[in-house]
Amino acid sequence: MIRNFPLAAIGLALAACSQGDPVADVPVLDEAAVREASAPVAQAFTSALQAQLATALGEGGRMQAVEVCHAEAPRIAAEQSEASGAQVTRISDRNRNPAGAVSVDIAPHYAELLEAPLVDGAPANRIWLSGEGEEARVNFLSAIPMREQPCSVCHGTDIDPALQARIAELYPDDLATGFEPGELRGALLVSWPAEMFADAS
Ligand code: HEC
Repeated sequence: MIRNFPLAAIGLALAACSQGDPVADVPVLDEAAVREASAPVAQAFTSALQAQLATALGEGGRMQAVEVCHAEAPRIAAEQSEASGAQVTRISDRNRNPAGAVSVDIAPHYAELLEAPLVDGAPANRIWLSGEGEEARVNFLSAIPMREQPCSVCHGTDIDPALQARIAELYPDDLATGFEPGELRGALLVSWPAEMFADAS
């Protein structure tokens, strides 16, 4: 189901970390384990949010749904972080929530997803190591492609004026409109303490 693991990139990252160090100190990243641990976390976030979004759109329409996205997306991310032990966040280079900016260290990985949001019809993803020592993290970044329904209601090229006004009120620096289906809307980051995946031997 999940494809496009940048195995070569991980190899390069590990090789870079090893410069000057004895080989025994190089962490061994078990990318199958990263995938197995991360994909369900990403899926749980997406399912929970989309269920809330669908209910709100059905019951109260777009004006209610935007309040739900505003309140529930950060809450569900916090809930999934708590439950998994990973840090779960959504990021975008054209973000609505300013907390979801693409940081400098993530930018090259995000750029790869921008280039090709889908691989064989499935969201592309990247796995990499970042930081050192206690700060070291294993990161899983999964593309969130733009879709016509229901996404274009709030992120598309033709937003209802009342909804647009409410979005501007909640997010004065909103960058997240004008997306076309198939473009990269954003990405879901699942970031783990690296020791969870490092082979100690
Ligand atoms: C009812 C309006 C609404 C709909 C429909 C909607 N979104 Fe959003 N979206 C929002 C709001 C509001 C936020 C900011 C949430 C927050 O404060 O964290 C957001 C944030 C996001 C983010 C996080 C990055 C950012 O820009 O802050 C992504 C990614 C995203 N939406 C993707 C989607 C996708 C994909 C769909 C379709 C499945 C979708 N959205 C449908 C309102 C909506």
